[in-house]
Order: sequence, then structure tokens, then C-alpha cells
Amino acid sequence: MIERIEQQHIGGSSTNKIRSFVVRSGRITIAQNRALEQLLPKYANLTEIRERIEHIKSTGNQVNLEIGLGDGKNLIHMAKENPNSIFLGSDVHLPGIGSTLNSLELHNINNVRVLVGDINDTLLSFGRIFQNIFIFFPDPWPKKRHNKRRLINREFLDLIAKKIKVDCKIYIATDCKDYATSILNVIEISKEIENSEGSWRVSKRPSWRLLTKFERRALQANSRVYEICCIPKNID
Ligand SMILES: C[S@@+](CC[C@H](N)C(=O)[O-])C[C@H]1O[C@@H](n2cnc3c(N)ncnc32)[C@H](O)[C@@H]1O
Repeated sequence: MIERIEQQHIGGSSTNKIRSFVVRSGRITIAQNRALEQLLPKYANLTEIRERIEHIKSTGNQVNLEIGLGDGKNLIHMAKENPNSIFLGSDVHLPGIGSTLNSLELHNINNVRVLVGDINDTLLSFGRIFQNIFIFFPDPWPKKRHNKRRLINREFLDLIAKKIKVDCKIYIATDCKDYATSILNVIEISKEIENSEGSWRVSKRPSWRLLTKFERRALQANSRVYEICCIPKNID
């Protein structure tokens, strides 16, 4: 089952693309496995997701995206707080997706949908629909030789820029100073996106974010968390 999902959605290491993740055949619980088997068709059906988005658009409510949903807790928290909006959660880590699916079913949450696979691929099938994009604690790839694997780079911002509404906000958090600097730099040189706080400035921690697993780790290690918020440039 897991192998089939990996092949179908994630592509594994068989392609030459530089990915921001490594597919690990790590431990998966029986409950996570069962959730992937039984609930993915309900929560990750692209046709249904597109129909939901069309409906949401017609009501004027928001379509939001969390990239790297992790254990899904923050995504579910945001969805509960904003029941009229839809929240798409993207990830490649199947145990985390399995846990998220179980929570969605357990709490009867119907405004969350899941995109399984590399966001660089899954985003391609969507238009300019997103109102808020959240990227909390993306893998930092701190070693110099791994920096090229970082999710947030120039090409990624170019892709994102094509998917956001004019009044969209992109919220990013990282505890890796070097990654924060490189993100601020790509925002600075972007033609389409700018820092909402002004050049090179970090923003305040959003009060609505649940303490995520990786944020907790950062705080336990006494690491500083850099919050970055960007918006589309107002180009006439
Ligand atoms: C360090 S974890 C942070 C998870 C969560 N946001 C948190 O703060 O606890 C980064 C997450 O991003 C996911 N990820 C990495 N590259 C991705 C990609 N290209 N597309 C979708 N998810 C990705 C990883 O699988 C992982 O779950």
C-alpha cells in the first residue's frame, strides 16, 4: 500500500529532480496505514477538491494552503477556527498524513483536504486561488552541500506567485538563521513578491499558530524563530 502511494504521488528517488525531502520507508503504525488506505480517497480526491474550491470561490470564502503539514495539528486548528474556509495541507511524509486523516475523521472536520506529494508538482494543477499560504519550519538542510534542497528558493517563489490572489499573505517560520537570510534574500530579489514588513525585516509570530512540533523543538533548543511574511507586489 505505502509503496503504491509513494510511487503514485511522490515519485521517490527515481527522478533526477533535486527534492526538498528524502523518501524514507520509516515506521508507520497500523492506524496510519489503515487511514491512508481508507481515507485518502475521501480527503485527497483532486476532482472533488477542485469542485470544492469552485464552490468556495463562489461564496467569497478563502482557500488556504499549508505546505509541510507535519502531524496536521496546526492545520486542523486553523480549519476549526475558520469553518467557512477550506484548508489544503500538503506533505510527502505518509505517517504524518495518516495521522492527519485519522484526526479529520475522528473530529468530523470537513473543510480540510490533503495534497499528497511534492508541492512543486501538486501546485501545478491549481490556478490563482490561494488567500493564505503557510510554510512553518520547512526542512532547513543546514549543510552547505544540501542548501540546494531547500524548498524556498527563487523558482519556488516564482511558482507560488502564480497561485496567489492579489491580497494573499504567505507566512513562513524557520529557526535556521542561514535559511531565514536566504529566504529574505529571494524575497528581496523577487519581481512578484515583497516583504510585508519592508526590506529584510522579520515579522511577529502569528498568535493564531498552534505551537508546532518543530517549533517546540526549536524553543527547547533555545533557537530563535524567524517569522517572515510576504505579499504579492502591487504591479500595475
Ligand atoms: C520540518 S517538517 C515541519 C512540519 C510542521 N510544519 C511543523 O512545524 O511541525 C517539514 C515538513 O515539510 C514536508 N515537506 C518537505 N518538502 C516538501 C515538499 N516538497 N512538498 C510537500 N511537503 C514537503 C516534510 O515531509 C515535513 O513534514
